[in-house]
Amino acid sequence: MKSTLKNQQLTRRQILTTALAGCAGLTLTGLSSLSWAQGASTVLLDVYKDPTCGCCANWIEHMQQNGFTSTVYHPRDLNGLKLEHGIRAELQSCHTAITAEGYAFEGHVPAKFIKQFLSSVPSNAKGLTAPGMPLGSPGMEMGGRFTPYDVILLNKDGSTRIYASIKSADQQF
Ligand code: CU
Ligand code: CU
Repeated sequence: MKSTLKNQQLTRRQILTTALAGCAGLTLTGLSSLSWAQGASTVLLDVYKDPTCGCCANWIEHMQQNGFTSTVYHPRDLNGLKLEHGIRAELQSCHTAITAEGYAFEGHVPAKFIKQFLSSVPSNAKGLTAPGMPLGSPGMEMGGRFTPYDVILLNKDGSTRIYASIKSADQQF
């Protein structure tokens, strides 16, 4: 399982470098924050990103369309922020969203899975990540192209497991 994950990440990294030349934040620094207002009509997120990265803005728009309200930050040490939240290098993507409770959502995780996570938080869970920059994920739309990817559950103790394996674009919505 570990080596499979590694291979997938390699693929994502390749995708990232080839398809995402414009996303400087992808050199992997940072952390994001989200706020989850329990019972409120919208979920508040603090989103940490690089100022030059456009795919993050597209993801934020996807989240907005799904009832999330983001406050955007451009921290000087994005990577430090990610590490503070346990999002180590192989789990990282461009932007990091953090809720008020400190749950972290890294990268282009579809809103559907974030809602699912927040409505039933697994015990000891820290958050979800979509490492790299999966082609066709929310905010990473490129002419209908899609590369299967996993949404990874990150626990507070640093352990991970696959939360959802997304085989086709329609499974994201
Ligand atoms: Cu991105
Ligand atoms: Cu981005």
